[in-house]
Order: sequence, then structure tokens, then C-alpha cells
Amino acid sequence: MKYLLDITGLTVSYYTDIGRAIALNQVDLKLKQGEKLGLVGESGSGKSTMGLAMMRMIKPPGKVEGGSVVIGGVEMLQLSDKEMLKKRLSTISYIPQGAMNSLNPVLKIKRQMIDAYKAHYPNHKLDQVLQLAHEAMTSVELPEHVLEMHPHELSGGMKQRVCIAIGILLRPQIIIADEPTSALDVVTQRQVIETLNRVQQKIGSALILIGHDMGLMAQSMDKVAVMYAGEIVEINDVQTIFTNPKHPYTQALISSLPRLQNRGEFRGIPGMAPSLYRLPNGCRFHPRCNQQQPQCQTTSPHKSVFEDEKYVTCHLYEAS
Ligand SMILES: Nc1ncnc2c1ncn2[C@@H]1O[C@H](COP(=O)(O)OP(=O)(O)OP(=O)(O)O)[C@@H](O)[C@H]1O
Ligand SMILES: [Mg+2]
Repeated sequence: MKYLLDITGLTVSYYTDIGRAIALNQVDLKLKQGEKLGLVGESGSGKSTMGLAMMRMIKPPGKVEGGSVVIGGVEMLQLSDKEMLKKRLSTISYIPQGAMNSLNPVLKIKRQMIDAYKAHYPNHKLDQVLQLAHEAMTSVELPEHVLEMHPHELSGGMKQRVCIAIGILLRPQIIIADEPTSALDVVTQRQVIETLNRVQQKIGSALILIGHDMGLMAQSMDKVAVMYAGEIVEINDVQTIFTNPKHPYTQALISSLPRLQNRGEFRGIPGMAPSLYRLPNGCRFHPRCNQQQPQCQTTSPHKSVFEDEKYVTCHLYEAS
């Protein structure tokens, strides 16, 4: 089996009063064991939806409409709810966006770790859980006495590490960390990313890091996937994304990064991301694209696949 994670055609919609928002449209993603992927995109592009769909945690008004999520040869979307509950934490783990602010203020960290574990394995012995909790704390470089503390006694970085520790209690094969560094200062951001990297290396899992900060991605990820309005428009290795981005949206993202050479001059991407309820025809990016061609207004582009399942979804790269 070449790929640990093999997602094809994953499609998720949210049904609301104003209509159907296709928050994920036919998304494909493959990851090998131990590989690290950065998932980037503007707010509302579908990053969290992607993580939640992999975990089978999409709740109404959301609905998984189709596609396949295979991990280690097992189709997650076909499992019973009970089987899926066991896969969470042990095979695939999701550290939610804002998790560190959702820790229960009145419970000690130890209690919260035990509860998280027991939600998946109610019959396991307490000794066993505590052993895992101690190991997880060591992995995220927190002293064991933190287990006896309450969230308000911890700094933001420590709280985020606690959330990572809960996520890795059962050494999952895939860790998804959803914006683990937002709301932290830059020094703490880097420390949290270093911790995630070390943990990932220690347990040999694949890592999907969701975020906006391309600088953090550049530092430690192997690959970057760029999302736009519910689609992955480009996946490439991190080097190529920064030095030779293919999709006009990726190009615009990279050229809008601040650089010392062009101090004072800020180049953003013109226009706004479309509402998922009123998507343009053809390519979803075409109204903002500086390399637009006539077919972009009418026809959705196909994926052009390069080696090792990297791809770009843009008419410019389609074989004529
Ligand atoms: N509970 C919900 N009800 C209705 N629509 C939703 C819901 N959750 C998400 N959506 C829709 O799905 C889209 C994608 O949301 P998602 O949270 O996945 O984006 P994101 O890329 O994680 O954004 P952010 O960077 O702000 O976290 C949103 O634009 C929104 O239209
Ligand atoms: Mg999100």
C-alpha cells in the first residue's frame, strides 16, 4: 500500500436557509506514512470541514455527500459509528480549532485526559489511561505536575500542548492539527510547531497542519495543499510551492507574502473569495485571476497530476 491516507472525491455540503453551500467539492488528497502536509487557504475555504470530514465529525446542517476516505486500506466512510469511535484517537486524531480555549476550566488536566480517553474506550482500566497520559505529557515536553493543574494556571502554549497530548494519547497514524498556533505569540507559535514536529517524528505519524501562516509551513512541512472556495487547487512539495507555484491563486498568495526587498509595498489579491452559496460558473477563481482565459468562465478545470499525486487544478496546465 503506497498511501496511508487516500481521499478521493470527498464532497461535503451545508444546508441552510439560504441554500446549499458545497464546502468541499470533489477533493482528492493522498499522504504517505510520516508525511507532513500543510493545508492552507482563506477563511471559509473548507479547511476545518476537510479535517472534520476525515474524522466523520461533520454535524447537521452539514452532510458528507460522497467520496472516499481510506486510511491504511480501511474505508472510514463505511464504518459503523461504533467502529469509527475506536478509530478516532487511535488511527486518526483531530486537534480542533480553538481547542485550547475549550478546555473545561473547572477540571484538572488529568481528568480531561481521562475523560477524552474514556469516551473512546470506556472499559479500559484507569492505570492504563494514566500511563498513557504520562507518556503523552513527556512527548509534548510538559512536566507531569501539569496533570494536576487547571487550565487557568497554564499559559497559552502549555494549553495547546495539553491539547496535542490529548490528541496523541493513542499514537494515531494521522494527526490533524487545526490552526494550533492562532492566538499565540510568534515565539510560542514556533515552539508549538516544533513540539508537533517532534511528536510526529517520535510516533511516526503523518501530520496535517491547518493554518494560514505560509512561513510556518515553509519551515517544517513536506507538502502544501492550497484550498480555494471548497477545492484543493494545488498540492505540491513545499519547495515548489514557494519557488515555482503553478496555480495563479498560489502564485498570488506567494507574491503577497511580505519580503524585505519590497518593504512598504503591500500586494494583496484583488477581489474577494466567492460566497459558497453563489459560486461563479467555470473555475471558482476566475473572477480574481490575472491569467484568465475564455474557457475559465464556463468550464471547471480538471486536475493535472504530476508525479507522486501532486496536482494543480487550472486550465493553463491541461493538455490540449
Ligand atoms: N455549521 C455550519 N453551517 C453552515 N455552513 C457552514 C458551517 N460550517 C461551515 N460552513 C460553511 O463551510 C465553509 C467552510 O467552512 P470551514 O470552517 O471549513 O472553513 P475554514 O477554511 O476552516 O475557515 P477558517 O480559516 O475561518 O477556520 C464556510 O464558508 C461556511 O460557508
Ligand atoms: Mg477552520
